[in-house]
Amino acid sequence: MTISIRFLPDDVTVNAEVGESLLDVADRAGVLIPTGCLMGSCHACTVELDDGEVIRACITPVPPGKEVLTINLFSDPTW
Ligand code: FES
Repeated sequence: MTISIRFLPDDVTVNAEVGESLLDVADRAGVLIPTGCLMGSCHACTVELDDGEVIRACITPVPPGKEVLTINLFSDPTW
């Protein structure tokens, strides 16, 4: 099953398969999600879903049950 994943604030949308790693999807979209440990413990990769749920991208696969998923990258504190 294919899902459209939309990354904000860049507003880039790519197709992804359920169960695919969100980091891989972001990479394909040309969107950089910061990472550190890749094990779910450092929270560097934290992003927010459209329903306000905060997730760690490195341990979160593309979830089933949606046709479109919006992912908000937290804004860079330098701007
Ligand atoms: S990279 Fe450390 S929690 Fe995801």
